[in-house]
Amino acid sequence: MRSHYCGVLNTSNIDQEVTICGWVDRRRDHGGVIFIDLRDREGIVQVVFDPDVKEQFELADKVRPEYVLKVTGKIRARSGATINKNMATGEVELYGTGIEILNAAQTPPFQLDEHISVGEDVRLKYRYLDLRRNTMQESLKFRSKVTNEIRNFLDDNGFLDIETPILTRATPEGARDYLVPSRTHESQFFALPQSPQLFKQLLMVSGFDRYYQIAKCFRDEDLRADRQPEFTQIDIETSFMDEHQIMAVTEKMIRKLFLELKGVDLGDFPSMPYAEAMEKYGSDKPDMRIPLEMIEIKDLMKDVDFKVFSGPANDPKGRVTAMKVPGGGSIARKKIDAYTKFVSVYGAKGLAYIKVNNKADLEEGLQSPIVKFLPLEIRQALLERLDAQDGDLIFFGADSAKVVTEALGALRCKLGEDLDLYTCEWAPLWVIDFPMFEETDSGLTALHHPFTAPSCSPEELKANPETALSRAYDMVLNGTELGGGSVRIHDQAMQEVVFDVLGISQEEQREKFGFLLDALQYGAPPHGGLAFGLDRLIMLMTGLNSIRDVIAFPKTQSAACVMTDAPGEVSKAQLNDLHIRLKPQVKPEAKAEPEA
Ligand code: AMO
Ligand code: AMP
Repeated sequence: MRSHYCGVLNTSNIDQEVTICGWVDRRRDHGGVIFIDLRDREGIVQVVFDPDVKEQFELADKVRPEYVLKVTGKIRARSGATINKNMATGEVELYGTGIEILNAAQTPPFQLDEHISVGEDVRLKYRYLDLRRNTMQESLKFRSKVTNEIRNFLDDNGFLDIETPILTRATPEGARDYLVPSRTHESQFFALPQSPQLFKQLLMVSGFDRYYQIAKCFRDEDLRADRQPEFTQIDIETSFMDEHQIMAVTEKMIRKLFLELKGVDLGDFPSMPYAEAMEKYGSDKPDMRIPLEMIEIKDLMKDVDFKVFSGPANDPKGRVTAMKVPGGGSIARKKIDAYTKFVSVYGAKGLAYIKVNNKADLEEGLQSPIVKFLPLEIRQALLERLDAQDGDLIFFGADSAKVVTEALGALRCKLGEDLDLYTCEWAPLWVIDFPMFEETDSGLTALHHPFTAPSCSPEELKANPETALSRAYDMVLNGTELGGGSVRIHDQAMQEVVFDVLGISQEEQREKFGFLLDALQYGAPPHGGLAFGLDRLIMLMTGLNSIRDVIAFPKTQSAACVMTDAPGEVSKAQLNDLHIRLKPQVKPEAKAEPEA
């Protein structure tokens, strides 16, 4: 139908007869001449119709925004004053001699202009129109380039692209499953995969050696800006490689991607044990662009006459820590109050602080609501430990280790953002030496997933599960967990020990993972792998704030699609086929109000 994309036309096309197709971005009537900006996925070009071509001029006069046109004409240079430097095609225009309206369009429900902000609910309802906007076109085009690069890299490195089932059994990755009722097996359900974890391990048992898949995963969990119920992983598994080799090859992939598509050399990724990340940065995915760290002061606060500090300082599960903000002395009281409120969300009961006005004067030079509780020698020791300088601000956290770590960890990121403390643009990091398990109200649960190999023997694991470390690793970029993986258990006895520690009974082990336990008995090679969140990767690379902006058709915060109205009701006949009877619905207004 066409000879060129609109957005690629330039001075090399001058005097050429071309045919273009696209959408009317704008139409202007300038003293008897009609200008149409015609848009396609490659960009916009200006088309001119003058009354000399009468029939065409009359048609051009009829078109409205978002009409679909086919236009034929000659490319000509724009005269000096009319050159538009802001437009890729701004040095030329198409002098139209033929026009065909391929389709008319109603006035869109919102203006498809980058600079006009439109509510996300409307954008998602008319996503097909939202996707016509340049930023959305660019981010999805970029996404396609990324997957292409990744496929090429993995192909060059001997990885095979193998698909795994979507209708499957539960794969435990820590979220709720999406279930699909079976018509042919009454009362039974498939689960959509939370990841291809078990299948990729089984592919290693089969001898494929290196696998990858750009895989859809489904997790029914609370949504945030970087979480969707349906998302995409770059899923990788290898045999006969240890954690260092797996980390090396995947790091190489991400570095190459940044170099090829962003011209950025991320350099060698440093690695940091989980315990250090939590202690210094209060996070298992620390944002290393921010030069703030938490410093332990528990020992200094054991005997002070301030319960808020001495209590946790004398409690083995307590934590007392300080975080210095260089130059933070200028932060206003009001702002400190706002930070106090901010940390309260994480359970912190307050946010003590000291402004260091004059460190030489321990009596009068420290401005703070709590300094009166600290003896002079403690003040001195504190300033020394933090290497505090005049003009600095010191924040304190004192509570259970969990509350302090989370509260000050979050405050660190907030300060980094508010005060623009970033020291670099990109800060990649490997976090390693994770604990095998974490303690929850319902007992121990796997920190990564239950197929992750421990760094110790089965006997040691059984004896001290709480302190055992795993052979897991996470790749973190700018405070976002980009990917995570581990060396897996390839030995049936070890796998059973892990299930035992997790309190999964023998029957349940057989029922849920019998196929895996069996497979481990038939010559499972040592293996391991990793999965990257593709959506998060694209979000970071494009500098956007939400993964919804890099997914063509994302779900809303409440895990629905407002465009297709999914999830939706189904007919009685369909339910009958599936052997399902619905509970009568309680109408919201009929719900009893809880007693005050
Ligand atoms: P994990 O659960 O850490 O590991 O997931 C891997 C990566 O997937 C991304 N991710 C998500 N992205 C968007 N929305 C979500 N709801 C979401 N959940 C996870 C993150 C995360 O780092 N099977 C293991 C991998 C392995 O061991 O090989 C797994 O799924 O970027
Ligand atoms: P209070 O004695 O409760 O008035 O608190 C005195 C100062 O200590 C205030 O600046 C509080 O914000 C701060 N504070 C109170 N509890 C904590 C806590 N758990 N951790 C850090 N600072 C606290």
